[in-house]
Amino acid sequence: MRQNYAAYTANDRLVWKTLYARQRENLEGKAHELYLECLDRLTPVMNEDLIPNYDDLNKVLLETTGWSIHVVKGLIPVEEFFELLAQKKFPASTWLRTMEQLDYLEEPDMFHDIFGHVPLLMDERYAQFMHDFGKHGVANLKKSHIIRQLQNLYWFTIEFGVAEHPSKIYGAGIISSFGETNHIYDEKTDVLPFELDKVLGNSFINSEIQGHYYRIDGLEAMYNIAFENIA
Ligand SMILES: [Fe+2]
Repeated sequence: MRQNYAAYTANDRLVWKTLYARQRENLEGKAHELYLECLDRLTPVMNEDLIPNYDDLNKVLLETTGWSIHVVKGLIPVEEFFELLAQKKFPASTWLRTMEQLDYLEEPDMFHDIFGHVPLLMDERYAQFMHDFGKHGVANLKKSHIIRQLQNLYWFTIEFGVAEHPSKIYGAGIISSFGETNHIYDEKTDVLPFELDKVLGNSFINSEIQGHYYRIDGLEAMYNIAFENIA
């Protein structure tokens, strides 16, 4: 599957611009600075006036960390997901939400997949961590209890991770959501200290604003998670 870049309409460009501009401003002082740095480095191939063309984005990613985008239709089975990560391929859809769906989606669209996930893949350490994640998943595909723990870990770090509360959002699910970014700053929101055992055992519910989050002591602490001890 490939991205059909010519198929994006003027309306798609308006949706992308609205999402990008609003969230870029909203993330100031809230997102992890590494994320913002990486996002800025991608400006030549992705900005509020430019829906990313995956060929151009891949060129930059491949040159920088060896990762690339692998187009998928929507959510994929966990086996395929880990296999792609192990090959340094990040699964992303190409469809974009409509103006009426700006703030709520049941399935991730390209704004989530690309704006949320791809910038940090420009960072060597983060990219290595994601690669290790995939390799550990592939090595344990037959062990469902390990896969479950890895999915929980992925959910509460890569998707919904927070570092050094309250100003260091790095999880793509929060980064790509205006509402969830602000929800983190609501004093009633539960942001718990990151404890690996708790995270591994904490199953999650998809497609709702999260009931709680885990705050890790910086990305370095995440990179230091020893996959071989997850058994
Ligand atoms: Fe995601």
